[in-house]
Amino acid sequence: MEISVLQKNNLITMLLILVCADLLFSGFEANALPYDYTASIECLETPLKPLHGGGIILNPELNMGLKGWQAFGDAKIEQRELAGNKFVAVHARNRPTDSISQKLYLQQETLYSFSAWIQVSEGNEAVAAVFKSGTGFKHGGAVVAESKCWSMLKGGFTSDATGPAELYFESKNTSIEIWVDSFSLQPFTTEEWASHQDQNIKKVRKAKVRIQAIDKLGNPLSNATITIQQQQNKPGFPIGCAINKNILTNTPYQKWFTSRFTVTTFEDEMKWYSTEVSPGHEDYTSADALLSFAKQHNIAVRGHNVLWDDPKYQPGWLYSLSPAELSNAVHKRIVSVMSRYTGQLIAWDVVNENLHFSFFENKLGDQATPNFYRLAHAVDWSVPLFLNEYNTIEDSRDGAATPAKYLQKLRQIQGLTRNAKMGIGLESHFGTPNLAYMRASLDTLGATGLPIWLTELDVLSGPNQDRPNTWNKF
Ligand SMILES: *[C@@H]1O[C@H](CO)[C@@H](O)[C@H](O)[C@H]1NC(C)=O
Ligand SMILES: *[C@@H]1O[C@H](CO)[C@@H](O)[C@H](O)[C@H]1NC(C)=O
Repeated sequence: MEISVLQKNNLITMLLILVCADLLFSGFEANALPYDYTASIECLETPLKPLHGGGIILNPELNMGLKGWQAFGDAKIEQRELAGNKFVAVHARNRPTDSISQKLYLQQETLYSFSAWIQVSEGNEAVAAVFKSGTGFKHGGAVVAESKCWSMLKGGFTSDATGPAELYFESKNTSIEIWVDSFSLQPFTTEEWASHQDQNIKKVRKAKVRIQAIDKLGNPLSNATITIQQQQNKPGFPIGCAINKNILTNTPYQKWFTSRFTVTTFEDEMKWYSTEVSPGHEDYTSADALLSFAKQHNIAVRGHNVLWDDPKYQPGWLYSLSPAELSNAVHKRIVSVMSRYTGQLIAWDVVNENLHFSFFENKLGDQATPNFYRLAHAVDWSVPLFLNEYNTIEDSRDGAATPAKYLQKLRQIQGLTRNAKMGIGLESHFGTPNLAYMRASLDTLGATGLPIWLTELDVLSGPNQDRPNTWNKF
């Protein structure tokens, strides 16, 4: 931004710019129930208090016996107490859905923020919350619960109809008990939800700027004419888009792209199947050309990707290798691509879609991924090393890639390479975005303190995309 000050008597010598936070909210926003961003990723001896005072859940802390709660399926439920904390234990389970339930009444087009604290009697198990209503089943989130301590499940959903519903839980292993405590189900109207977003935008992205022109002695200049000229349209925060080599020969596309985005990644050009079509013959021509194009326009580049765990997307010659040969080839790949571009990229997707696929693990053992990250860190320790995954915030039904599973994988990698800078890559291929679930998942992942990037954002075209105010604003 360029600021110039003109005044008739040409006495202007100094500019003073005062920035002050915008504390003025409109009346509605000030009254809207605030959203509670709290998420715990520690397993605690006693659960924290329910968010939002429990919201519409009856007896949310399970302190009033079983009031409001009943057994679901064939399970048996009973109130217990441990270290002064009352909770309910679900036992005698025969089916995954045998659990505990509460009957609810939901409102159409309302966003529900859900949380609960879960413990299992033995080992550790994924436990999911399900909301059954007249229009079907909605998964409200999942956690990998442990024994001997309480884990927070944070999730949410949007209700598409007004009417009765029922909350229950699901966990595959029927030999364990599910213990529950400290529930919350907080409804938000779409207007309230939008007001939370507006408040955050104001807090994080906006500030009031007061400009005052003064003379040499510090006296305010009256009647100064101030002109402000915005120098570029690019935002001050990273926003990007993928490119491929077609951009190199298309000038209008180049103009459009370079005037908007501050960061990019290459669709295919850096991937292994592009750079080493036949073994030992590496060709980085396209990746080099795209990188040089991005640099020329001051656009940062994410490295995508070193390895991709999906068996469909390997260089063709990889499939016939023995485990020892594969291990060798992977080692060479990591060192080759990463050392070539060290210092020129802002991040690496090291193992792509590792929560859904296991091409390398199947051949090299279950420590394959942490080992790859250890080697990656040895080659380039200057930038964050990302996991990059889909459905973690997009689809609450996909048990393979929940935020809890993501955290498990991060911990496994960090266990081997303690000082690696890690990053959380969320592909963000949305059908209908589930805002409350997405928000809760970001809260959970954000509790790691690691950088979170939405790496491949797209939304299926659908009927609600032009809905004003709320749905297109996250
Ligand atoms: C169920 O959990 C128990 C306790 O952790 C464990 O010993 C058992 O192997 C699990 N069963 C299955 C099918 O995962
Ligand atoms: C400021 O500018 C206006 C219009 O040009 C003029 O009428 C007024 O006298 C000026 N005031 C001062 C303090 O110079």
